[in-house]
This record gives sequence, C-alpha cells and structure tokens, in this order.
Amino acid sequence: MAANPYVLKWGIVSTGWIAQQFVKDLLEDPASRNVTDVAHKIVAVGSRTVESAQKFVTQYAPKEKDIKTYASYTEVFADPNVNAVYIGTPHTLHYENALEALNAGKHVLCEKATTSNAAELKVLLALAKEKKLFFMEALWTRFHPLTLELKRIAEEGTLGDPVVVHADLSADFDIEKLPLTHRMLDPKLGGGALLDLGPYPLFWAMLSLYEHPSNKNARPTSITGSMVTTPITGVDASTSFTVNFTEHLRAQAVLSCSMTVPTAPFGATIRYKNGNIIVKPPIFRSPSFTVQYYDKPGGEVVREETKTFKYVGGGWHFEADEVARCLRDGKLESDSWGHEKSIIVMEIFDEVRRQGKYILPEGVEKVDRVQ
Ligand SMILES: NC(=O)c1ccc[n+]([C@@H]2O[C@H](COP(=O)([O-])OP(=O)(O)OC[C@H]3O[C@@H](n4cnc5c(N)ncnc54)[C@H](OP(=O)(O)O)[C@@H]3O)[C@@H](O)[C@H]2O)c1
Repeated sequence: MAANPYVLKWGIVSTGWIAQQFVKDLLEDPASRNVTDVAHKIVAVGSRTVESAQKFVTQYAPKEKDIKTYASYTEVFADPNVNAVYIGTPHTLHYENALEALNAGKHVLCEKATTSNAAELKVLLALAKEKKLFFMEALWTRFHPLTLELKRIAEEGTLGDPVVVHADLSADFDIEKLPLTHRMLDPKLGGGALLDLGPYPLFWAMLSLYEHPSNKNARPTSITGSMVTTPITGVDASTSFTVNFTEHLRAQAVLSCSMTVPTAPFGATIRYKNGNIIVKPPIFRSPSFTVQYYDKPGGEVVREETKTFKYVGGGWHFEADEVARCLRDGKLESDSWGHEKSIIVMEIFDEVRRQGKYILPEGVEKVDRVQ
C-alpha cells in the first residue's frame, strides 16, 4: 500500500445480487491486484428495509466497523460521510435514484442499463455537470486488464482496421419459473434481454469500432433491431441488432442477446483486415482472448496467440478503482468510459426498442424519449 492512498468512501444503494458482488470486491485488498494509489471504504448501506441493510452488512462486510445501515436510499444520499454512491437497483429505477443522489451532492456510479432511455440519461449528465459531480455507468468490463491489453493489440496497427464484430451475451433465466415481478420479466422494471444483457455485446462493438482510432470518434451511422417477445409479459426474450460505423470505417457490429438460451460459444469475435480477435465467453468477464494474424489481408492464419487473465476477486473492483482515481484527480467523467459512450449506448437501445416495438409501461420513462 502506498503511504497515502486516496480512500473513497462509498454509500451502497440496494442490497440485491450485483450490490453483493460489488461490495465483496470493494473489500478485496487493492494490493492483491497491484493497486496502491487508491482504496475503498464502505460507510453506508441503504435498502428498502433496515433489516435487509443490516443482513447485507452482516453477510458481506462482517469485519467492517462503522457502516451505517439505513431503511431508505435517501438517508444514504444525505449521509455527509459518503463521497460516492453505487446504485444497484433495477434499470428503470436508476434515473430517480441517481437524480436524488446528484441533487444531494453525491458522485454516482450507476449500474447498466444506465437509465430507461437516453433522454433520462441526458438529464442526469446535465445535472452532474451543473453540480460538478462525477457520474459513470458501471461498465466494469471496460476496466478489466484483459480489455486494456486487447485494446492495445487491436489499435497497435498490425491487424488493420476492424470490419465486422460479432458478439452475443445470453443466459437461460428459466423464465417460465420466475415470478412475474422479477426484474427480467417485469416491463415496469425494464425487463427483457436487451437492457440487461445487451450492454455487453454492444460494449465490444463500442470498444472495437467506436473507440478505434480510425473511427475518429464518429457516432454510429445506422442501427437495426429485431425483437422476439415472450408471451409471459411481452418483454423481449431474444434481441438482435446491428450497428454500423461508416463515416470513417466500413464496419458493422452484429449483436445479439437472449434470456432463454445459454450464451453463444463464439463470445465476441472481432474481424480485422489482417486477422481476428476472439474473446472467450462470458464476454462480461472473459478469461482469455486469442489473436489470429493472416499472412496477408484476406489470407490464411499464420500466427495465433492466446492471452489469459487471472486476478483476485470478481472483477468489479477495477471500475471502483477508476471512480476513486477520477475523484482523486478532480475529473467529472472517466476518460475510458465517459458520458458520450453511455449516451450512444442508450440511444442505440432506444432505437432498437423503437424498431422492436418494445414500449415501456406508461409512466416508467420519467423523461420522454424522442420518437
Ligand atoms: N455489472 C454487472 O455485472 C451486473 C450484473 C447483474 C445485474 N446488473 C445490473 O444491476 C441492476 C440490479 O440487478 P440485480 O441482479 O442485482 O437485481 P436484484 O438482485 O433484483 O436486486 C435489485 C435490488 O434493487 C432494490 N429494489 C428497489 N426497488 C425494487 C423493486 N421495485 N423491485 C426489485 N428490486 C428493487 C432491492 O434492494 P433493497 O431491497 O435493498 O432496496 C433489490 O435487492 C440491474 O440494473 C442490472 O442490469 C449488473
């Protein structure tokens, strides 16, 4: 540990599955991932009931002293000891939770899908800017060592420009057995495959196409989407979408997600002029990727290299370290996963939902989306 690491004091909002994973990772010793400049402290946990907040602390942070437990999220936002809040509620609640956090003067790390629509996200980002507060979508995969190394290889030049990306994230949620109020099924909670699983295939398109230097930060030029709904509640069971980047590249992403079948074995495959990068599933936390190099453009694979990555913890601590470093350095957004990327992602989801005719119930979207 460095003599004086910057210590970020977190307030945790909600106690569900992802909040549990995030808190477990916050409590990993940063030195176990060779981090010495920042550290994390959990100072408050808020839940809809105080019993749940207390149970959460007992179970996931038993050795931590002085964590305040609250029977509401509002009390976490009001706690003067909290620097930043982590929001782990279902998608359609993110907007109101983040709005309240920002209005209370807290920096925010908000789970994906960031909001119900791009219009909501824009309101949050404008408020964050006005109040000089940090806001980041919790796109944890962007901060993994595997992602950083893949990006370095992809952009170093040998592979040439990207041409086609295929990526899938699916999981069989056994939806026939889920209660209708489960967040994957309930349209009021933004249920369905797209908003829950879609951020990951889209992430690989954003990383390999949008972020590629040859793309010069150009936004997608066209989007198509197709949804298959479940008769259970009408949310999307399977969705496929394409995203083209043709202003500076001639590139296309072919993406899919389903909540009724296991994930596709090809994971994410990025095809370049001079080779391929194949990211092993699960693409949210891939263990390895393989780079294939052709002998000449359009030729045969003559060299192949696989890189494997291991670390202590679940992999959510890397995004927490990013938040801590940004706050330490006075940044209002991450250079790696900043506001513009989160807006593009939400605009793509809006468009795919529009084409797939997936309309959230009246009143769920708190800010009207542009039709
Ligand atoms: N980054 C990742 O790897 C990852 C993985 C899974 C999920 N996620 C995201 O995290 C969010 C939550 O997912 P999850 O799997 O953690 O869900 P979950 O287990 O259902 O937990 C959600 C929590 O939100 C709170 N909540 C408040 N109002 C609620 C309502 N009306 N219905 C249900 N819960 C409500 C509850 O906490 P209290 O009772 O304590 O208030 C609940 O435990 C989603 O946006 C999802 O996309 C991210």
